[in-house]
Amino acid sequence: MPTSEIGLDKTLAALGITATEQVDARFALVRANFDGQFKTVHDQSEWKLFRDTWLARKSGVFTLITDNWLRPATPELKRAVGACLNELRAYVEAQIEARRAAIEVGTEQETFARDRVDLSLPGAVRPVGSRHLIRQVFEEIEDIFVSIGFSVVEGPEIETPYYNFEALNIPEFHPVRDDMDTFYLELPKGAPTPLLLRTHTSPMQIRTMEKQKPPVRVIVPGKVYRRDNPDATHSFAFHQIEGLAVDTDITFCDFTGTIEYFVKQFFGPSVKTRFRPSYFPFTEPSVEFDVSCPFCNGSGLATSGGTCSKCKGAGWIELFGAGMVDPAVYGFVNYDAKKVSGFAFGIGIDRLTMLKYGIDDIQVFFQNDVRFLRQFP
Ligand code: FA5
Repeated sequence: MPTSEIGLDKTLAALGITATEQVDARFALVRANFDGQFKTVHDQSEWKLFRDTWLARKSGVFTLITDNWLRPATPELKRAVGACLNELRAYVEAQIEARRAAIEVGTEQETFARDRVDLSLPGAVRPVGSRHLIRQVFEEIEDIFVSIGFSVVEGPEIETPYYNFEALNIPEFHPVRDDMDTFYLELPKGAPTPLLLRTHTSPMQIRTMEKQKPPVRVIVPGKVYRRDNPDATHSFAFHQIEGLAVDTDITFCDFTGTIEYFVKQFFGPSVKTRFRPSYFPFTEPSVEFDVSCPFCNGSGLATSGGTCSKCKGAGWIELFGAGMVDPAVYGFVNYDAKKVSGFAFGIGIDRLTMLKYGIDDIQVFFQNDVRFLRQFP
């Protein structure tokens, strides 16, 4: 508040002011007072306090001057007081506004200086992930089959027993179901059909043939589940690629030619292949497909002299199951078994990947250890 010698709380008469020159002198005093105090206003909170002291409606300096000096002034002095008051108010308001703007700019500049981005600093490096090795192998295999006319389809991981077993010629109580003992879902009472996590990608043979008339040439990459105890070559969740080709004139030679082409593309031209008889309820004849051991070139001998640890000295490694589609399966999808023929195969991708990249434990695929994953960028 301006100093008490200004006499804001008294009338002009009480201050002994009776002439116009005295009024001018008194207002000059007020203005000098303003200038003196104004020098001390530097930041926003000081500015607010100062503004209220001078301009507040209730008890600001101008209100006091109006109430105590102007209103009770004699008619002779009123005009002079009014003129001085207006001039002073214009001056004070302009000064206060100019200071507000200056403080604001100063604050902004301070903020800018504090927040300024130094463009010469190196950027923040955000690590980029990479495709999992299993995903890379999926894509490699997909490319090989797409190049010879197959298309890629995907199917549900939750299946009905009909698609997972029955339509694949595996009736209830068939001993093959024991090998695939699996995970059933807990469903509400009265659910129309049991549901299970598919044990292989083969149900997609049925789903594809139901939707599509021959010719059919598809591969089906996906995840499958079995109640197998985990060890170096078993996981309860793993990956397969199903293959299915059905047309009016597909022979066993088309089958072997296709499989051999794939294996040589995948492992390199020097590997040898062979079939062994096997059994699957949905293929007839059924085979197991072996490849000459890529680690010892089929010799069965390790470079150190002993037996090759990968093929255990056999020179061959079992790759996957396959066969000509069993005519009984066509009955489930309304294909005429007398007119069509075809072949199917189911490749275990995890074990295939282990073979190609010399990995000796399937569990590393599921542990998300970046030290392992970074080896396959
Ligand atoms: C099948 O799953 C048949 N559906 C394959 C098939 C398809 C045959 C079409 C004929 C025609 P199998 O149960 O053998 O077959 O499994 C296929 C491959 O899955 C195996 O060769 C193996 O590589 C892989 N596999 C099986 N169980 C496991 C497991 N617990 N962990 C990791 N890989 C597994």
